[in-house]
Amino acid sequence: MNAFTGSSLDQVPLRVTDPRLIPSPRYYDEEFFRLENEKLWPRVWQMACRLEEIPEIGDAVEYTILARSVIIVRTKSGVKAFHNACRHRGVRLVQGPENCETRGFNCPFHGWRWNIEGKNTFVHERPVFDEDILDRAEIDLAPCRIEFWAGCAFINFDDNALPLRQCLGPVADRMDARHADKLKMDWWYATVLPTNWKLAMEAFQDNFHVPRTHPQLHALQGPGPEPDARPYTARMTGRETVNMQVDFMYKLSEGMAGMVHPTELPVVEKLRDMDVPEDSAAATGAFFMRAWTDIRDEALSRGAPMFDIPKVNMEMEFNAVEFMFPHFFLLPFLGAMSSYRIRPLTAETCLFEIWSLVLRPEDEAYDTPKKPTVLPYNSQDFPEVPRQDYSNLPLQQLGLHAGRFEHMRLSKSEEGMISNNHRLIDGYLAGLDSETLAKGSAIVSGGNAGTIRDIGF
Ligand code: FES
Ligand SMILES: [Fe+2]
Repeated sequence: MNAFTGSSLDQVPLRVTDPRLIPSPRYYDEEFFRLENEKLWPRVWQMACRLEEIPEIGDAVEYTILARSVIIVRTKSGVKAFHNACRHRGVRLVQGPENCETRGFNCPFHGWRWNIEGKNTFVHERPVFDEDILDRAEIDLAPCRIEFWAGCAFINFDDNALPLRQCLGPVADRMDARHADKLKMDWWYATVLPTNWKLAMEAFQDNFHVPRTHPQLHALQGPGPEPDARPYTARMTGRETVNMQVDFMYKLSEGMAGMVHPTELPVVEKLRDMDVPEDSAAATGAFFMRAWTDIRDEALSRGAPMFDIPKVNMEMEFNAVEFMFPHFFLLPFLGAMSSYRIRPLTAETCLFEIWSLVLRPEDEAYDTPKKPTVLPYNSQDFPEVPRQDYSNLPLQQLGLHAGRFEHMRLSKSEEGMISNNHRLIDGYLAGLDSETLAKGSAIVSGGNAGTIRDIGF
């Protein structure tokens, strides 16, 4: 029992009381969804856009989260965020990516106008209004909090929320060391999934679904455990191990259409011929050290802003999936990353976006996507790995409703992140103070296959 139990936390409907058991209605109950809309989303830092979506002065995009909408715009004095509503009678001003430098923001209803700094520049028939309701502070666009990290703009509707960096915790340092702020888009896809937003995220919050969901990745890692119970690597020669790792990287690259970037594959391919120790474990170590070094050197030789892969991997914790509460992921591997953002649409649908990101030379011309390519979730145009992950989700959402499924049951060592995330959401629904929530967020964010942790309440 601590200061919060017996108080507001107890009032949270469908609250997680045993951290290993997640009540299933949290994924479909309309009242719970309404509470998230009212108490969670208005108080959290949300990845609103990649800054490369708005490279030029005047470039503007809209970020929506349920009914709320924010304009993110690049101005001469930096990237700014404004609530996306005309100050006259509320019309939404920006809908798609567009450049607003010369015309600013124009309301299509009566023609009020703003410059890209959010200053009102025109009120149609001004004399017919009482001046006291046209105060500048009233008719300029309402600013929204904005901060920047990992090449992205993050917004927050809560003026009392602690700074972004404090909410992210140690994962921010790990991603900074991998030059996340310099990553550029290769491609950007989106889909609508027929599942609750948390369920969609949880498809990526354990590692032990790989053998069954992604058999093509698992198969490369050697024979099954029966009848030989030794780890797969112990059954291979050094040369076989190296070839297996190279094959795995090809499969991962193909299956994610990224993560191992196409520029990295020829570098890895050459390592099939490297001198290797006979011992499989030693060969794995030697292989990775050479792969990290050679990929770094090849990227630097092209002028890419590559980080020191061997140094970072030796000195820092590595997680193949890193989660940033409440809805953003980065998936580092060698020098490239994939990234996900998940947003609720209704209690049982969500928008899932995927980016493939790479450290490309600053001056290299590239046709950066302005919008995601939107595909059906079962489209064959999705890379194989996310398509496999998506395939389970509609069935899982159906299963929650099947009857006699009261709660998910979680492994404390492998699925802790799912529990930590739900319990932090309960903290928001209980209206806990900003400091407690920021501390919790810094604990919940991080590597995906974590243990159930004390999040501070
Ligand atoms: S509603 Fe925008 S100008 Fe009237
Ligand atoms: Fe997966």
